[in-house]
Amino acid sequence: MDITFNILLMLHLGALVVGGATTVAMPLVGRQMAGAAPETLGRLGPIARRLQLNSRIAVGVLLVTGIAMLWLRYGGGAGALGPWFLAKLALVGVILVCMVLGMVVSPATIRPPVLGAIMRAALVGIVVCSVMTFG
Ligand code: HEM
Repeated sequence: MDITFNILLMLHLGALVVGGATTVAMPLVGRQMAGAAPETLGRLGPIARRLQLNSRIAVGVLLVTGIAMLWLRYGGGAGALGPWFLAKLALVGVILVCMVLGMVVSPATIRPPVLGAIMRAALVGIVVCSVMTFG
């Protein structure tokens, strides 16, 4: 049971590294793409799409491993872990909403850098809440 939990936590933290790296790299690529020539867009477009896919996979792994750890060690009761954990879950919700908005709303309505900034702030908040809950 313990080894399973440890593996889940390693995957959880590994996915955090991938997701965190993406939130740093994406704005750098996005800035280069803004107003770039078609040739540059042709080179950077696939990189941006790959980063986007990585971040979606990372969030999926964080959700699955997080729920599995919660169930394995804490009996599935999020409320019993206190207000920091509830705040963490609320911020996870913010990230999910931003991801869905990024997929369904046009970039002219909500600019991608705005969504990116909200997601970065939420990610920092989630790490703070996680450490305050479990650290
Ligand atoms: C973007 C999403 C998430 C991020 C960035 C994140 C981040 C983290 C971090 C940094 C830790 C380590 C904290 C420490 O040991 O001090 C952690 C642990 C944990 N997270 Fe998450 N998490 C996310 C989503 C979730 C979700 C959705 C759940 C459950 C519904 C969850 C449940 C847990 C549990 C149960 C632990 C650890 C337990 C322990 O060491 O006893 N996480 N998370």
